[in-house]
Amino acid sequence: KEKQCHDTSFLPCQVTNIPSEFIWPEHEKPCLTPPKLQVPPIDLKAFLSGDPKAISNACSQVNDACKKHGFFLVVNHGVDKKLLAQAHKLVDDFFCMQLCEKQKAQRKVGEHCGYANSFIGRFSSKLPWKETLSFRYSDDKSCRTVEDYFVNVMGEDFRQFGSVYQDYCEAMSNLSLGIMELLGMSLGVDKEYFRHFFEANDSVMRLNYYPPCKNPDLALGTGPHCDPTSLTILHQDQVEGLQVLVDGIWHSIVPKEDAFVVNIGDTFMALSNGIFKSCLHRAVVNDTIVRKSLAFFLCPNEEKIVTPPKELINKENPMIYPNFTWPSLLEFTQKHYRADERTLDAFS
Ligand code: SIN
Ligand code: FE2
Repeated sequence: KEKQCHDTSFLPCQVTNIPSEFIWPEHEKPCLTPPKLQVPPIDLKAFLSGDPKAISNACSQVNDACKKHGFFLVVNHGVDKKLLAQAHKLVDDFFCMQLCEKQKAQRKVGEHCGYANSFIGRFSSKLPWKETLSFRYSDDKSCRTVEDYFVNVMGEDFRQFGSVYQDYCEAMSNLSLGIMELLGMSLGVDKEYFRHFFEANDSVMRLNYYPPCKNPDLALGTGPHCDPTSLTILHQDQVEGLQVLVDGIWHSIVPKEDAFVVNIGDTFMALSNGIFKSCLHRAVVNDTIVRKSLAFFLCPNEEKIVTPPKELINKENPMIYPNFTWPSLLEFTQKHYRADERTLDAFS
């Protein structure tokens, strides 16, 4: 039986009338029986094998998905199953600790990293029903940023946590570089073009822990939003909760143990000159079981100017978004977030 740690959560998990700070307005209340979106996963191994038919299949699947809703699933991704299992187990171990232990990593106002509960982020007018732990990952092989973070903040006993998530982030960073090639080919541009923005990336990893909620019809685990980053690679446990807006209706993305969910973020939408859509998504909670997800947010190298390739700009399709660097977009999204629009559309 899975370990459940409601009593160490900051959230009022046993309360049958949750406080009003967690109750979302009528038009944003979750639907707990949404239609399920069944999409064929993309076989990365076949894509990387060089077989022309597999390549053209993968490219057309990705092209359709990213024009329509901005997400797809990948299987045969080469990420070690044991590493994935360890990464999930340590999420339980971390969030099951006493609150005062978790608070050693407390996220401070204005910071992106650390432990957060009941945190009004840029994504919510209401409190999200979740606890999170976020940390930076640097692709620079000479620094083990994640391991250092855990040891510095939580103490030497947490070196193993740091080492597992260091390895996990490294796997995610490599996977995302491969996905950048796939995205490039599916847009008909040089496969190296997008990849080079993410060499020496400084990215963010977030562990999401959603305790059960007695009023899952009133609360949301994560409010509706588009990720400002380029790509998010998400692994959800076997508990349903992730929803994506397709044709104006929230659909559930049913968990698939061997698959990662890849979301297009605002930065990639800009890199594709608006051809690929950033994915509008949210996460719901339930009244019986903890839900967990692991999210790796791929950020562009801070110094690179984000600009689409020439092939995607012409008279009929002029450049939609101004050039920007990742830090300037981040600053903008923090000041100007509106739940009812893609943040990037206000950035001009
Ligand atoms: C998020 O988009 O921030 C979380 C999604 C999830 O937990 O499935
Ligand atoms: Fe997200």
